[in-house]
Amino acid sequence: MTNLTDSMDLEHTLEELERAAPARVAGAVDLDSLSNLEAELTGKRSPIAEARRGIGKADPEQRKVIGVRIKEAADRIQALVDGRRIELEHAAEAQLLVDDHVDMTLDRYRLPSGSQHLLTTTMQEVSDIFLGLGYRIADGPEIETTWYNFDALNTPPEHPSRSESDTFYIDWAEGPNDVLLRAHTSPMQVRYMESHEPPVYVVVPGRVFRSDTFDATHSPVFHQIEGLAVDENLSFTDLKGTLAHFAREFFGPGREVRLLPHFFPFTEPSAEMFVSCFACDGSGCRVCSSTGWIELMGCGMVDPNVLTAVGYDPDAVSGFAFGMGVERLAQVRHGVTDIRHLYENDVRTLRQFR
Ligand code: PHE
Repeated sequence: MTNLTDSMDLEHTLEELERAAPARVAGAVDLDSLSNLEAELTGKRSPIAEARRGIGKADPEQRKVIGVRIKEAADRIQALVDGRRIELEHAAEAQLLVDDHVDMTLDRYRLPSGSQHLLTTTMQEVSDIFLGLGYRIADGPEIETTWYNFDALNTPPEHPSRSESDTFYIDWAEGPNDVLLRAHTSPMQVRYMESHEPPVYVVVPGRVFRSDTFDATHSPVFHQIEGLAVDENLSFTDLKGTLAHFAREFFGPGREVRLLPHFFPFTEPSAEMFVSCFACDGSGCRVCSSTGWIELMGCGMVDPNVLTAVGYDPDAVSGFAFGMGVERLAQVRHGVTDIRHLYENDVRTLRQFR
C-alpha cells in the first residue's frame, strides 16, 4: 500500500511539475534566470532528483516503470528549458545587433579644408623650374655657426653684416658668439659642396633671419632660395642664361634680364639681377617704381676662396651662385604691397592664393 500511495504521490508531483513547467520556463526573461529555474526544476535539490533518489525504496517490480516515468518528466522539462534557452540566445544576439548598429549612411562631419600658403607655393614653383634644369633640392639648418654663415663665405670679421644689429646670435656662453640664426641660405653653398663632389647643381629654399624691425617692407624672418652650380668651365654667360630662363618661366616669355655690378664677399664678380617689368613691359609703372626693371636677386661667380674653403680646386672647377627672396618674388608677382600680409594669416588674404 505504501508503495502504491508513494507512486501515486510521485505521479501527482510529476504531473504538477509538467503542468506548471511551460509557463514558468516561458516566464524566464533572460539566460541567467533560465539557468536558475533549470536548477530549481532539474538540479540536485529538485523534486525530480528527489524522486530519482526514492526509486530504490520502491517495489523492485515497479522500479523500472517509475524510473521511466521520472525520466519522461525530466526530459519534457529539459526540452522546454533547452527550447527557451535557444530563444533567449537569439534574442540576446538580436539585441546586440541593435545596440552595435552603425548608420553608415550618415553624412560625415566635414572639416573645412585649408590651402597651401603663397610662400610655400612660390618656393615650390621656383624649385620646379630649377628641377627642370637638372638641379637638386636641398635644405639645411636654420641655426648656423659663424663659420658657415660668414667665414667660409669669405666674409671678413669686420663686415657690417656680422654685427649684432644685423644678425641674431644665440650662443653667448661658448666663445665669441659662435652660433646664430642664419642670415641667408648661402651657408648651404658651403655645406653642400663639403658633402658633394662637383658637378653641383642645387637649389636650397629656406627660412632666414635678420635683426630688422617688422614693417611694410621688412620682416625679421623671411625666406630665400639659394642656387649653386659648380662644374668645369662654367662662366658668367651660364649664370645669365640660367637666370633669364628662370625669369621667363616665372614671369612669362619675353622677359629680359640685366645684371648690374654689385658686391658680395662670396662671389666675384657679383651682380644684382633685374627682370624687365611684367606689368608694363618696361615702360614704367607702380610695380617697377617707374623704372621698367624689377630687382630680383643677388648673384655672381663663386669666389675662388669659397671653393678653396670646401676643398675644391678653383683651377679645375668654377661656378655661379644666386640668392632670391621668396617674399619679394611673391609680392611682386601678386601685387602684395605689405609683407605683413604674408604672415598675418588672415583667411581673407590666404583664400586669394588658393
Ligand atoms: N646671400 C645673399 C643675400 O642674402 C644673396 C646672394 C646669394 C648673392 C648668392 C650672391 C650669391 O643677399
